[in-house]
Amino acid sequence: MKNRFLFALVLVVIAGAFHLTDAKANLATMKAIVVHEYGGPEVLKYEDAPRPEPKENEALVRVIAAGVNPVDALIRSGKYAKFFGTTLPLIPGYDIAGIVEKTGAKITKLKAGDSIYAYVLWGGGYAEYAVATEGEATAKPKSLNYIEAAAVPLAALTAWQALIDAAKLSAGQTVLIHGGSGGVGSMAIQIAKARGAKVIATASTQNQELLKQLGADVTVDYTKTKFARSRDLGQTQRERARGDCQVDRREKDQAGCLSSSATYRSSEGARAGRDASHARQDCAQSR
Ligand SMILES: NC(=O)c1ccc[n+]([C@@H]2O[C@H](COP(=O)([O-])OP(=O)(O)OC[C@H]3O[C@@H](n4cnc5c(N)ncnc54)[C@H](OP(=O)(O)O)[C@@H]3O)[C@@H](O)[C@H]2O)c1
Repeated sequence: MKNRFLFALVLVVIAGAFHLTDAKANLATMKAIVVHEYGGPEVLKYEDAPRPEPKENEALVRVIAAGVNPVDALIRSGKYAKFFGTTLPLIPGYDIAGIVEKTGAKITKLKAGDSIYAYVLWGGGYAEYAVATEGEATAKPKSLNYIEAAAVPLAALTAWQALIDAAKLSAGQTVLIHGGSGGVGSMAIQIAKARGAKVIATASTQNQELLKQLGADVTVDYTKTKFARSRDLGQTQRERARGDCQVDRREKDQAGCLSSSATYRSSEGARAGRDASHARQDCAQSR
C-alpha cells in the first residue's frame, strides 16, 4: 500500500515537472520589433514578445538576419491591412536568414541546424525567432553570408515571377529592365542573363557601372535618355503589346506591361517607382 502511494506520488511529481516545463516553453519570450498600431517608423517597438511555436508544417528558425523591403513600410502603415489581411499586434519582416531550431512533425526536408533563407508570407522576421513552412524556406547558398542571404528572397521572387512566370522569358529574347540597379532590378538582370536573354537596363548615372557588372548588355542612364511611349513604338510592337495586355486607362501611361516578346513597355514606369512586378500585377488585373 505504502509502495503504491509512493509510486503514485512520484508519478504526480513527474507529471507536474513536465507540465511546468511545458508551461515554461509556452511562456518562452524573445526580443522582437512589434507594431501595436499602424503608422510611421515610430510605431516600431523593440520589446519582449512570445516566441512562436512551430505548427506541424512549420520550422522554428533562429533569425540571424532579416531583410527590409518597401512592402514592410506599407504593411506598417496599415494602408493595405485589408488587402494583406494583417491584424495587430504584428511583427514585420518577410525576408529572413538563419538556422533551423526545431521542426514540426510534418516537416521532411528541413532539420534542426540547417542554414536556411526564407520568404515568410505572414511576416515575423524582425525577431529572434520566426516560423517558416517548407515552401517558404530553402538551404542558404554557401556563397552568401546570412546578411546577404536575407536580402534575396522577396526581390528575387518578384523578379522571377515577372520574368519567368509571367513573361516566360527564354534564350534569345530581349528584355528591358527599368530600375536595374534596385533590389528587384538587380535580381532581374541576373535572372534574365542566366536565361540567355539580351538585357537592356536603366539606372541613374552613378549606377551605370553596376548595371554592367550585373551583366546588362546595354545600359541606359534615365537621367539623360527619355523613353519611348507606346505610341512611339513600331506598329508591330504596338499591336503585340496591345494584344498582350489591355492596361487600365488610368495606369496606361504609368505602368507598362510585359509583352510576350518580353519587352517592358513603359515611359513613366520606373519614374513612378513601379517595376516589372507591378506591371505584371497590372497585366493580371486588367486581363
Ligand atoms: N523589393 C521588393 O522585394 C519588391 C517586391 C515587390 C514590388 N516591389 C516594388 O518594386 C519597386 C522597386 O523596388 P526595389 O526594392 O527594387 O526599389 P529600389 O531598390 O529602391 O530600386 C529603385 C530603382 O528605381 C530606379 N529609379 C529611381 N528613381 C528613378 C527615376 N526617377 N527614373 C527611373 N528610375 C528610377 C533606381 O535607380 P537609381 O538607384 O540608379 O537611381 C533603382 O534602380 C518599388 O515600387 C517596390 O514597391 C519591390
